[in-house]
Amino acid sequence: MDVEALEQAALAAVAAAASSDAVEAVRVEYLGRKSALPLALREVRDAETGKRLNAAKQRIETAVAARSDELGRAELDRRLAEERVDVTLPVGEHERGRLHLITQIRREVEDIFLGLGYRVVDGREVETTRYNFDALNFPPGHPARSPLSTLFLDEHTVLRTETSPSQVRTMEAQQPPVYVVSLGRVYRRDTPDATHTPIFHQVEGLAVDEGITLADLTGTLDFLLKALFGQERRTEFRTHYFPFTEPSIEAYVSCHVCDGAGCAVCRHSGWIEVGGAGMVDPALFEFVGYDAERYTGFAFGWGLERIAMLRHEFPDLRELWRNDLRFSEQF
Ligand code: PHE
Repeated sequence: MDVEALEQAALAAVAAAASSDAVEAVRVEYLGRKSALPLALREVRDAETGKRLNAAKQRIETAVAARSDELGRAELDRRLAEERVDVTLPVGEHERGRLHLITQIRREVEDIFLGLGYRVVDGREVETTRYNFDALNFPPGHPARSPLSTLFLDEHTVLRTETSPSQVRTMEAQQPPVYVVSLGRVYRRDTPDATHTPIFHQVEGLAVDEGITLADLTGTLDFLLKALFGQERRTEFRTHYFPFTEPSIEAYVSCHVCDGAGCAVCRHSGWIEVGGAGMVDPALFEFVGYDAERYTGFAFGWGLERIAMLRHEFPDLRELWRNDLRFSEQF
């Protein structure tokens, strides 16, 4: 075997290899277990030949390692250059996500009341009939107790029909003074149409303290209505009935579309009905063990969808559930 010729051929091949893969192929060809040189080394019988073959093998190995290093570095440099990201380049337009309109209004109402010193508390969507009806003074046989209007999970458990049970749970959990709002979903067995969805949202407010009067209630609602519909609005409160407030009122705001002149939005009355409120019925204080001689309180419960619909003048509540971006992106 002509070791010199073999070595020359190997070194030439190493020099000619243009990539790490090519160098590896040369290494396998000349130094791999089944190639000529290592096979010859295994058969060597005299020291002189052994030395010569080993020296040649080492020179080839050194050349392979050097070339492999060189190419590896060049390849790394090329990759770094190719994959470099210029963070100063302008990027294309990106769609920004946004909060659902109801979430926006929910946070707005929470902010208004946090600013007034109220606490935001959670209620539960799955309620017992005891908290959803009994504690709130709903008499036996009241239509709201019927499975035709309320979604029952079992005989004693419902999906809450209003946020008012959170009044009772809050009072049970703490002593006055109480200043809380509770916002969330409520459920009624309604067939969806332009003005009804079986799930909607309410904000419940509750204030209990010494000396709270109806004027505190109307003052607070006046503040809320102006914050929501504009400082130039007028407010009005008309008597109403709820089983858990006495007296009960319904809040009205002067129409923000026609400013009271009369239009389709206010059904030509100049006024828009926003939601219910009243002075906490002493029966609730009794239920939670508050001293009804010492404390008075007010509560209100309004629908957030109604506020959204009035403010943005869209005609169909169901839009809020369709998730059509052409609708959602307007808010
Ligand atoms: N819970 C009543 C409703 O859903 C609203 C309300 C809340 C009225 C608090 C008075 C006091 O219609």
